[in-house]
Amino acid sequence: MNPIIINHPLIKNKLTKVRHKDTDSKLFRETVNEIAGLMSYEATKDLPLETVDIETPLAKTQGEALARDIVIVPILRAGLGMVDAIHMLIPHAKIGHIGLYRDETTFAPAKYYSKFPLNLAGATVLLLDPMLATGGSAKASYDMLKEAGAQDIRFIGIVASPEGIDFIKKHCPDMQVYIAAVDQGLNDNKYIVPGLGDAGDRLFGTK
Ligand code: PRP
Ligand code: URA
Repeated sequence: MNPIIINHPLIKNKLTKVRHKDTDSKLFRETVNEIAGLMSYEATKDLPLETVDIETPLAKTQGEALARDIVIVPILRAGLGMVDAIHMLIPHAKIGHIGLYRDETTFAPAKYYSKFPLNLAGATVLLLDPMLATGGSAKASYDMLKEAGAQDIRFIGIVASPEGIDFIKKHCPDMQVYIAAVDQGLNDNKYIVPGLGDAGDRLFGTK
């Protein structure tokens, strides 16, 4: 797996906004959501289609429709900030949830919740989290989804570290990663530098 870095001018412009320390919670939330919507174009561009018979007001014809179920799975909390824009584009998608937090001293992910729709095996799963730092949370989520039967898992993030990308390449080789930027690295607290700070706190105004 090589990450797909989405080099789009609109995304880069929005990424600058979310990185800026003076961007308030409202603008941060709106912009994270907009980036997610734009990124989902790339992450879904090879979804299989099937031919369907339809009738326009004038004639019978054939159209194309998505052939597989889509399941959106945000990693709580920060992944929640990416759901709405993608759900608006794929309104029939089902939504699962994974609750994880990083232990403050070990930085390992601790699970507190999960709930998935049925038939993950036949679905394309869009796993959402703006931050891929050590990669621990993404890997734990991948493991939970695999355990529940998912086969096609696509991670959509905003900022990654090189360490996190290497970790995912090693432990989740069949999960495609879509990311807007790969930054310099992690600091001693395993935050991405330059990054954008604590995504959950900035989204929900908790600091
Ligand atoms: C953040 C972020 C990711 C995780 C990334 O969540 O949203 O889930 O850290 O770090 P990792 O790649 O090193 O695992 P956090 O655990 O702070 O929880 P929160 O979203 O509830 O604030
Ligand atoms: N979680 C965040 O929200 N930001 C980071 O830089 C790392 C983990």
